[in-house]
Amino acid sequence: MTPTRDLLERIERLRTMFLAERPPGAPLPDYWRDDRDLQAYDAVLGARIGWKWDAALAECHDRGLPRADDAVVLDYGCGAGIAARKFAAKFGAKEVLCHDRSARAREYASRAIRIAMPAVAARAVATVYDQRPDVLLVSHVLGELDAAGLQQLELLALRSRCVLVVEPGNQPVSRALSALRDRLLPQFDAIAPCPHQAACPVLRGTGDWCHFFAAPPPQAFTDGDWVRTTKALGIDARALPYSFLCLVKKDAAALPSAPRRPRLLGRPTLHPHTATVQVCEADGLRSVELQKRRDPALWKALKKEPETVRDLP
Ligand SMILES: C[S@@+](CC[C@H](N)C(=O)[O-])C[C@H]1O[C@@H](n2cnc3c(N)ncnc32)[C@H](O)[C@@H]1O
Repeated sequence: MTPTRDLLERIERLRTMFLAERPPGAPLPDYWRDDRDLQAYDAVLGARIGWKWDAALAECHDRGLPRADDAVVLDYGCGAGIAARKFAAKFGAKEVLCHDRSARAREYASRAIRIAMPAVAARAVATVYDQRPDVLLVSHVLGELDAAGLQQLELLALRSRCVLVVEPGNQPVSRALSALRDRLLPQFDAIAPCPHQAACPVLRGTGDWCHFFAAPPPQAFTDGDWVRTTKALGIDARALPYSFLCLVKKDAAALPSAPRRPRLLGRPTLHPHTATVQVCEADGLRSVELQKRRDPALWKALKKEPETVRDLP
């Protein structure tokens, strides 16, 4: 991907729209003007979202989410379809349904999947009221939905067997995701990132939010085009904050139950001899101080590669 002026201008326009303050529940107008908007988005913003999906899917895998080779997978608000491509690459899929309010996005995403994975059937679907997918994917859509859109998505989630959502790591969207989790929980088991099935402790107060940081691949720092693109756009190449959720219907086949240890949230605060982390567990959120001399390897991991430390030993 060469950072041409056209590519940079297209991404700037989209980012300005995404980052602009909007009253909650106020949807954006359809912003895909042509396929080149989707191409530009896919090459840069979509790729970054894909790295968040890599991190979330790795955790789902480690939590026992099974393969989905026979599954019908629906990507809701698919945009260029990065969520479906990432999911199908990691877990498999029999058929992918691409849904977006934009017909251009639906067609682009389903074509991109057919090109990237010829063995997977992919098609655009204009409406979802009659869909009952095995796996529902939602990526960076929650913040764009008005009340009617959110209700449609929630009803679709209730008709799905597995629901996987990856969203930005900002406070309002992450808290909206926690609230959605709690509304769906009577019918679903939380597979990841939650280490428990209790109501989301983040929502007990007003200042916390469930979020994580994904590690960009080396290419983000070594590929000249990438470095030039992120620099020109003022994107912090290191920061990939995200929130996510994986739910599986209670009546679905029992998943292997790995032991659930308190899950680290956000980033650790490092001091010369200690590190402070916030963890989530059924009783609530807790701040834990770790001593460097007691566990030097953990302290070092928290310093050098905090995204690799999901839970406490
Ligand atoms: C920020 S983009 C994310 C695209 C893609 N899921 C990703 O992660 O790269 C949000 C997408 O949601 C779509 N969208 C917004 N409101 C929608 C609605 N009510 N129903 C379906 N799609 C919607 C937009 O057209 C856009 O493609």
